[in-house]
Amino acid sequence: MCGIVGYIGKADAPTVLLNGLRRLEYRGYDSAGIAVLDNGQMVISKSPGKVSALSERTRADWPAERFSRLTMGIAHTRWATHGPPTEINAHPHLDQSREIALVHNGIIENYRALRARLEGKGHHFYSETDTEVLVHLIGECDKGNLFQAVCDALHQVEGTFGIAVLSAREPEKIITARRGSPIVIGVGDGETIIASDAAAILAHTQRVIYLDDNDIAILTADSIEIRDLNNVPVTREIAELGYDETAAEKGGYGHFMLKEIYEQPDSLANAIRGRLDFNVGSSVLAGMGTSPRDLAELSRVVLIGCGTSLHASLVGEYAFEDLADLHAEVQQAAEFRYRNPILGSRDLVIAISQSGETADTLAAVREANQKGAFVMSLCNVVGSTIARETGRGVYLHAGPEISVASTKAFTCQVAVLLMMALKLGRGRRFSREEGIRFAREIEHLPALVAQVLLQNDRIAAIAETYAHNEHAFFIGRGPMYPVALEGALKLKEISYIHAEGYHAAELKHGPIALLVQGTPIIALACDVPGKDKMLGNIEECRARGARILGIVTEGDDATAACMDDFIEVPRCHPLVATIPAVVALQLFAYHVARIRGCEIDQPRNLAKSVTVE
Ligand code: F6R
Repeated sequence: MCGIVGYIGKADAPTVLLNGLRRLEYRGYDSAGIAVLDNGQMVISKSPGKVSALSERTRADWPAERFSRLTMGIAHTRWATHGPPTEINAHPHLDQSREIALVHNGIIENYRALRARLEGKGHHFYSETDTEVLVHLIGECDKGNLFQAVCDALHQVEGTFGIAVLSAREPEKIITARRGSPIVIGVGDGETIIASDAAAILAHTQRVIYLDDNDIAILTADSIEIRDLNNVPVTREIAELGYDETAAEKGGYGHFMLKEIYEQPDSLANAIRGRLDFNVGSSVLAGMGTSPRDLAELSRVVLIGCGTSLHASLVGEYAFEDLADLHAEVQQAAEFRYRNPILGSRDLVIAISQSGETADTLAAVREANQKGAFVMSLCNVVGSTIARETGRGVYLHAGPEISVASTKAFTCQVAVLLMMALKLGRGRRFSREEGIRFAREIEHLPALVAQVLLQNDRIAAIAETYAHNEHAFFIGRGPMYPVALEGALKLKEISYIHAEGYHAAELKHGPIALLVQGTPIIALACDVPGKDKMLGNIEECRARGARILGIVTEGDDATAACMDDFIEVPRCHPLVATIPAVVALQLFAYHVARIRGCEIDQPRNLAKSVTVE
């Protein structure tokens, strides 16, 4: 969603800011803008559409000397919430005096009341945004101390914010603050850069500080002072990012999505490395912070997430029940806190989130903590809010995921869930030998995925047959049911084909009415328990004219013969097979979207990190 960049330091700040915005494009946005101070004057440039349009406009409108003399500014990519993605609604917004500029992520929930109050005092608003109300409020509070003005204004707002503020009246500093929307500060050498995520900081420094909720910081080129909103100094540690710019580049691939699909043997190897113990037949996940006794006392696992992370949770549900003999259930994070969940200290709640910033998942974590559950997280982004608020959990180590459509995060989430289930299973019912056998299955995952990737050309050819349909149904059973859901999500989000995932048995309870001659059915027909029933479901579809693309187990020729087209995945444990199977569907979705000429890495309307409820 929206992205913030702020910079104070050396010359050519506009180029730094525009490059930073490019790094944040993957988050999803529909307009962009930049504000700088030039000889004490506030100068703003904004544009609907892409950062490239903003960059062209800025370079056309601003003299080249301006670029070279500027040393500070703030910039933003906006994902529209209040008002359409027009130039007027784009950030930065200015206060009544036109001397204070603000970029903002999040939502000011009481903006209508604040706006009415300010209008009563003579303020004039140009945009439909909640952000413009906040900057007017800051201006109204400013009695000669910008920091205090921001504190006073933030005390009056309800909702969430990550902000950066620039003032022509105090031109040597940037103020930044957060509540609910992430802010990372890059600690450079004679320069300070802030951003909504580290992608915009990598080019400058590896040293970062993550702000906590209700932190507010005063930044200069060589100092960072952090306080809370009551003006009490707080200390935040400097962390090392641990990956460089190349990790956030396409590296010769046409799209980040394809690069990330191909990275999966490596990302899985990273997620697994050092975490399997073949002596005891278990896994070593120190971040869980649990003793065998803690695990033995658990009565239930509750997995929460959204979107792709929700689908990974559903695979986890099968794994915890199958391997650990533990009652497991999945809850959609957005619903979790509103349904008053029944939780206690023997319930393990696992929050699953690639970004670690998803607002609904974060709210669910807070609710689970409130209810005294044993809460941990499974995040990819190190230092993200959910990872920090849970305090315990397991990082995926998948590396930066830039494509909006999640791929390598999903497979690493499932791999880590399998390792968690193995650990719990070993404590509750697995013998050492059973544990070792399953650990070996997990160990082979990178090779299994590499085998699927070898079929890329074949999958691309199959995609040609299906790319021109407007509807598709994905069906699966058992742990392959969440894979069907994930396959449908991948296809719909990047190709805009209307795709639905169903439990194969559910089709005949309604959706089968939609099948006509040639409707694509993508059937997860791997050789796992329930396959016979699956073959029956496939015949029901075929009898109504559907065209069947089967995901089948290598060597299962009889099943392959039931399909119009098929993609093979290697033979392995049914839970482990979810990972190679989903990789086949990721490639299928990618090629369909490519053939349809879609904007694969940044699909319309989507945001990488969904920081509003
Ligand atoms: C789909 C996708 C989304 C995310 C969802 C949750 O490809 O990426 O459905 O999975 O927005 O995001 P995280 O995992 O960051 O909480």
